This record gives sequence, C-alpha cells and structure tokens, in this order.
Amino acid sequence: MADGTKIVVDHASKLFLEGTVVAFRNVELNVRSNEVLCIVGPSGCGKTTLLRCIGGLLAPSSGQVLIDGHIVHSPRPGVAIVFQHFGLLPWKTVVDNVGFGLKVAGVPRQQLAERVEHYIRLVGLAGFENQYPYQLSGGMQQRVGLARALATHPEILLMDEPFASVDAQTREVLQEELLRLHERERKTMVFITHSIDEALVLGDRVAVMATRPGRVKEVLTVNFARPRDPAAVRAEPRYTEMRNHIWEELRPSVVV
Ligand SMILES: Nc1ncnc2c1ncn2[C@@H]1O[C@H](COP(=O)(O)OP(=O)(O)OP(=O)(O)O)[C@@H](O)[C@H]1O
Ligand SMILES: [Mg+2]
Repeated sequence: MADGTKIVVDHASKLFLEGTVVAFRNVELNVRSNEVLCIVGPSGCGKTTLLRCIGGLLAPSSGQVLIDGHIVHSPRPGVAIVFQHFGLLPWKTVVDNVGFGLKVAGVPRQQLAERVEHYIRLVGLAGFENQYPYQLSGGMQQRVGLARALATHPEILLMDEPFASVDAQTREVLQEELLRLHERERKTMVFITHSIDEALVLGDRVAVMATRPGRVKEVLTVNFARPRDPAAVRAEPRYTEMRNHIWEELRPSVVV
C-alpha cells in the first residue's frame, strides 16, 4: 500500500469452543513492507492463532486481517508460513518436502531442482536430501520447514518459533542467516519467539503480548542499524534497557 503498510490486523478477535476460549481479543497491529515484526508473549496468549489468521488458515471471529489492502479469507499467494511443529509431509523426503510448494505452483523441473538445492544448502542440510522427516532431529526438521518456505520466494514470511527446537549454536547461525537473507531480499516478516534476545536481534519492532485475554500489550521500536551484527546489538546499552523492559512486561503473566 502507498503508506508502506503490508499487513493490517484490524480489531481482530479469535474465540474457540463457542466463545468459551478467547485466543486473543481486539488485536490491532500493522506490519510495514520489508520490516521484521517479532512477537513475544507467554504460552497460550494467542501468538500461533494470530499468525494463522494472518496466513489465512483461520478466520478471525470478529475484525479482519488485510494484506496489501485485501481482506484475507484464505491463504494468499506470496505468503509462506514456517509452522511451530514443522508441518512436514512424513512420507516425502527432504528434497520433496522443500520442493513441494514449487511443484504445486508448477515451477519447471530444472528450476525447481536448483532452487531446492540452494535452500537446502542455505539451511545447512546438504547431504540429507533423501532422508525422511522421522530420520531427522527436531532442529533439522525445522530447517526443512524454513527451506520449504524460503524456496517459494515469498513476499511475506510468517514464522512461528522457527528456531525453538535447535541447539543454541545452531540457533545463532540461523539467526545470522535470517539477518543476511533479510539484507538481501528485504522480505516482510512476522516472527514469533519466546526469546526476548532473538526478538531484539532480529526485529525492527517487537510486539509484546499478554494472556487472559490474549492481547497486544505494547509495540516497541527496536531500531538497531542494519546490516546487523548480533554480538554488536547485544553490546548496546539500549539492548539491555529494552531487554529488561520486555522482561518486566512479561513477568506478570508468568505462571509459577
Ligand atoms: N483449535 C483450537 N480449539 C480450541 N482452542 C484453541 C485452538 N487453538 C488454540 N486454542 C486456544 O487458544 C489459546 C491460544 O493458543 P495459541 O496456540 O495461539 O497460543 P500461543 O501463544 O501460540 O502459545 P505457545 O507459546 O504455547 O505456542 C490457548 O488457550 C489455546 O488453548
Ligand atoms: Mg504457539
């Protein structure tokens, strides 16, 4: 859109089980073109449900989601989702999982093979092309999900805790890869994470959600210069200030 807004969540609420479960209530959120919006919040505050509504997999109970000014009723082309629980096809190999969306889109065979190889390499899975998901660790399966999303060259990437199940070192490598990818391709991203550190390293803004009812409590502008070096970001005094601030925001919702 002209003002650079890509995604609008307009007073959206989502209720389940005949209104007895409120996933989130009255969420207002804009995502600008090319920005990385990170969402943090306690378990059960509606992050995944909100992402599914943005992706067109679920309809809000009230309010609406718009992408490029169009109301989202179903999954839109150019929007890819990396699911919290991988969402891989268990009967397909890594190559076939990564190439699945491209095949459905009718991408010619040679081009499909090249793109699939490129993204498998990018996420560090070269050598595992012919394995099935059950033969991979959780972190590797998540990387297959990431490669599959990237391979479709989406304009918008919706990511639900994509690095939650990888070890700390791999997580940092993938964060750096994602920062590089963002430099190169400037996609619009919505990135859910439980890690305040990850949100600050990756995000242009961070939406902090709270629970009961699920809602957006605050949206912070992060504003560290890009291209970003995660270590340099962590060394900034503002990083520590924001980290403490978000931690305080989340604290009341932590159930001990
Ligand atoms: N299909 C469903 N039917 C009924 N209730 C649901 C459904 N999906 C989600 N919920 C409920 O909606 C609320 C929000 O769930 P959601 O998965 O969006 O939370 P989340 O913030 O992603 O949590 P987590 O951090 O644990 O992934 C929870 O109370 C959950 O039980
Ligand atoms: Mg979730």
